[in-house]
Amino acid sequence: MKKKIIIDTDPGIDDAMAILFAHFAADIELVGLTTVFGNVSVEQATINACYLSDLMGGNIPVAAGSDHPLNRKNDRYPDWVHGKNGLGDITLNTPQTKALETDAVDFIIEQVLQNPGEITLVPIGPLTNIARALEKAPEIASKVKGVVLMGGAATVNGNVNPAAEANMLSDPLAADRIFTADWPVTMVGLDVTHQIIMDEMYLKRVHQSGTNIGNFITKISQFYLEFHRSTGTDGLYTHDPSTIAYLIKPDIFTIESGTIRVCTEGITAGLTIMNRSRKPYQQTAWDGIPKSDVCIDVDVDAFLDLYASIMTGH
Ligand code: RIB
Ligand code: CA
Repeated sequence: MKKKIIIDTDPGIDDAMAILFAHFAADIELVGLTTVFGNVSVEQATINACYLSDLMGGNIPVAAGSDHPLNRKNDRYPDWVHGKNGLGDITLNTPQTKALETDAVDFIIEQVLQNPGEITLVPIGPLTNIARALEKAPEIASKVKGVVLMGGAATVNGNVNPAAEANMLSDPLAADRIFTADWPVTMVGLDVTHQIIMDEMYLKRVHQSGTNIGNFITKISQFYLEFHRSTGTDGLYTHDPSTIAYLIKPDIFTIESGTIRVCTEGITAGLTIMNRSRKPYQQTAWDGIPKSDVCIDVDVDAFLDLYASIMTGH
């Protein structure tokens, strides 16, 4: 039985790598892409998602979503990380695939309610669309198979500042709603994604298969490599593909369960605080919410072998 997933995405170079990784994974069925602001505007994210759908044969539906977080406007994008167009500023032809009339929130709700117990939501950008879908149709919480998200940091510092990982910081209120809702959440955060670095040799070995998708990833990853080099990392972090690796081969990750809250304001906005204590507290804001599964460690070699075997197999 294939795992049916909807990827909610702000493509984004590592988003693109995750989407194409999922496309090639035999036991994953990519039901659709829903787009959200984050690395780029939602307009650009939607263009990029349509371009990626073309690359995958044009049959993956794309639904456009939120252009700002739940409780504020947004007009700033980290173009120094993913480029102004979100895909390493490579030249992109106008995609053939057109976004659906249905928006991201309604697409998520419809797909989850039409396929009860089968759909895993895989948000790899800010969690605004997921929070809006949950608010509009709370019943999806009992109808999803699960939520496997890229974001947060339970045991390490953030990547935007010492407190916050980027997806959580982009919409901390949405993130807190996701972690406190009554549904199964798995957090694939910086605890593991900061351990997984693809260097240039590896990227060449895996993506220079001469296929159009291999060539595409080679081209977009140059900008992302330059950004990482500018921060002293000789390779690139594969944040978003880590969620797909978890779906394909969860046993390469070490999981710890605990309740998670997200700071929503102040200098620690976006901080994901997991209750890892085995001792009881008096009444706290971590009471009465379900535990999330958090990836706190990963077998890096197993991850790199898995990604390479799936991507070079095509
Ligand atoms: O912190 C990394 C996350 O923020 C990734 O999803 C990346 O694409 C950006 O959205
Ligand atoms: Ca992303």
